[in-house]
Amino acid sequence: MAIPLHRQTQYQYLLVSQEGRVGTVQLNRPDVLNALSPDLMIELVDALEVFDADNQIGCIVLTGGPKVFAAGADIKRMANASAIDMLTLDQLARWDRIRKLHKPVVAAINGYALGGGCELAMMCDMIIAGENAKFGQPEINIGVIPGAGGTQRLTRAVGKAKAMELILTGRLFDAQEALSMGLINTITPPELTMETAQQLAQTIAEKPAVAVRLGKEAILKAFDTTMEGGLDYERKLFYLLFASEDQKEGMQAFMEKRAPDWTNA
Ligand code: CAA
Repeated sequence: MAIPLHRQTQYQYLLVSQEGRVGTVQLNRPDVLNALSPDLMIELVDALEVFDADNQIGCIVLTGGPKVFAAGADIKRMANASAIDMLTLDQLARWDRIRKLHKPVVAAINGYALGGGCELAMMCDMIIAGENAKFGQPEINIGVIPGAGGTQRLTRAVGKAKAMELILTGRLFDAQEALSMGLINTITPPELTMETAQQLAQTIAEKPAVAVRLGKEAILKAFDTTMEGGLDYERKLFYLLFASEDQKEGMQAFMEKRAPDWTNA
């Protein structure tokens, strides 16, 4: 059973809980389909960073709840802003801190994941989607383009032709299309989305934490380096893991034909 955390009382727009070594953050602004206001994003980045720094947590699940993930950045909060307001406030820079989390984040998505909501999902490391999930980058329909990484992450995930079509038409797409394009990991019945994401997160959270951290880091490196640079980086991280207790334990346990006892050190 998920234990609600005391610290959730400090959040107005989130529900935060912990089950085993999995920390869950749920967006909680249902009246406006979890529109990602600056205040919500301050809380979200804080909650994710708190879990990221907690040794008792091995993996994080991010969800919007059973009906909607997020319908994007809060349009009402942006509508009258000037370019200079947007530039000087630079609120999307905060979103970028999600990219820097060390622990894996699994997105559990039911319903709409649009605009900034789709971008937030793509900032996560894995995506579990309910059959009712609807993705899209509809910013073109309100006179802008994605501003929280959509042009870069969607393009890397699904390729240039599909990204062009989706971003320049603003067409929404369902979980099946997202799966066929390689954007998400799995589709589930909507009532099983959270459970499926939790199971995946729990499996990862039970692996040795230092190897999980460096595995994530090496995979993300593939997005911003050459093959040569990436292979070199991976090899150094592989060698570095021989400084961890869990490497000694894992290999010893293999040779002794027993289950490893991880210390996450
Ligand atoms: N910002 C602010 N409020 C939003 C919102 C958003 N992104 N999305 C929905 N809401 C609000 C609505 O205004 C409405 O509030 P009121 O009851 O006060 O009018 C409430 O949520 C319910 O929404 P709807 O009545 O529109 O619900 P619907 O079921 O008819 O439609 C929807 C659902 C298709 C998702 C529609 O709400 C919609 O198109 N939302 C906007 C989607 C969008 O354009 N997202 C991109 C935002 S820009 C962005 O994200 C930039 C970026 O890259 C960072």
